[in-house]
Amino acid sequence: MEERSAGTAADGKRARGRVGARATGGTPLVALSQVAAAPVARLQTGIGELDRVLGGGLVPGSLVLLGGSPGIGKSTLTNMALGNIAGAGHKTLYVSGEESAEQVRLRAERLQASALEVPVMAETDLDAVLDTIASHAPRVCVIDSVQTLRCGELSGAPGSVGQVREVAARIMDLAKARSIAVVLVGHVTKDGALAGPRVLEHLVDCVLQFEGERERPYRELRALKNRFGSTNEAGLFEMRQGGLVEVLDASARFVAEATHAPGSVVLAAMEGSRPLLVEVQALVSPSELEQPRRVVSGLDRNRLALVLAILGRHGGVGLGSHPPYDVFVNVVGGVRIDEPGVDLAIALAVASAAKGVALNGSPCGCFGELGLTGELRWVGHPERRLAEAARHGLSVVHAPAGSGQGAHEASTLRAALSVALPSGRTRPASVAA
Ligand code: TYD
Ligand code: MG
Repeated sequence: MEERSAGTAADGKRARGRVGARATGGTPLVALSQVAAAPVARLQTGIGELDRVLGGGLVPGSLVLLGGSPGIGKSTLTNMALGNIAGAGHKTLYVSGEESAEQVRLRAERLQASALEVPVMAETDLDAVLDTIASHAPRVCVIDSVQTLRCGELSGAPGSVGQVREVAARIMDLAKARSIAVVLVGHVTKDGALAGPRVLEHLVDCVLQFEGERERPYRELRALKNRFGSTNEAGLFEMRQGGLVEVLDASARFVAEATHAPGSVVLAAMEGSRPLLVEVQALVSPSELEQPRRVVSGLDRNRLALVLAILGRHGGVGLGSHPPYDVFVNVVGGVRIDEPGVDLAIALAVASAAKGVALNGSPCGCFGELGLTGELRWVGHPERRLAEAARHGLSVVHAPAGSGQGAHEASTLRAALSVALPSGRTRPASVAA
């Protein structure tokens, strides 16, 4: 529970203003076709993957919320973007409420040279920050992080719901009035929700999520909301010595690293409008627990449960009882896959692991959604997935019916299993231990 004040004087004024407007006949209305809409001029950050996820660059006067767990690289990404923008001759400002100016400098020293040109302000008082933004008038301003700023008029601690909302609302008013693009950095709790800033998702124009595992080099940037672009886009980065590097040949790398072992299959996934080949691995082993483990990484856990149920019921691969089996499924490289086409990859990887045999023609590719009655369903952009697979030398790609030329099509899970697994047996007598 958190105490919040019932409302400020400004709220009251706004409410009275509304009543007054009604009394005088209100605002004249115009049809949408008459509303003036100039094309948005975007400001490139110089980081291709970031610009693509943003929908083509930062929009002046817009608010972007960048969320991610600590240490993932939010400060590094924003430092690099500001450095590029400063290098292109635009005014920038980096407000750090977490680190001292010295610490920010030390990070910037590891990045490109122009990162050191960015003016930095280490401050947590909202009024001081707003004054500086107003007088310095940058084109782009980064607030790292929104949870550390404090509005003196409210009593709550920095980072509390009331504070975060007020801080963001005041910054937004200024940003819209002066056409400043603002990036608010926000922290994320362990379970992945934007802590505190969750309340900001309605307010801001764009919500970006930076994810990955801290121990692994790959980082993925996704748009969860974007008023100026698609929310399907994702960008892939790698954390290196000199900062974040865009990964442009991700498919090639993942395919080259793919094992030809039992339990491995390559998924031809779609990351927004871009195809991406990733290896999905499964391990099946007898469990010592009464409740066998179902462990996933890079996937939704419920998705695995669903696919296992369909595999048991319609594919003849039961892993539930006598003895129970632990099932582990991993998307290699720390990438997260959030699309229905992953179902067939999970099913093939688990079936191959359970039988202890590699799939025919391994490494082979696949994509497709599984229905509850065991049918293999069509998923979007089969031609792009197939082209990507062909480009990286995968000659066998299992896919739903209607996917087009070059696919090994199947209309049910059972049919796909019988083609993909050696010896054509669709019902293994027993799971290989
Ligand atoms: P940081 O951007 O500070 O993360 P966040 O702001 O999301 O908390 O940096 C994350 C990690 O990246 C940090 O542990 C150090 C590492 N790092 C590199 O490996 N190379 C680099 O060039 C930089 C700047 C950081
Ligand atoms: Mg940081």
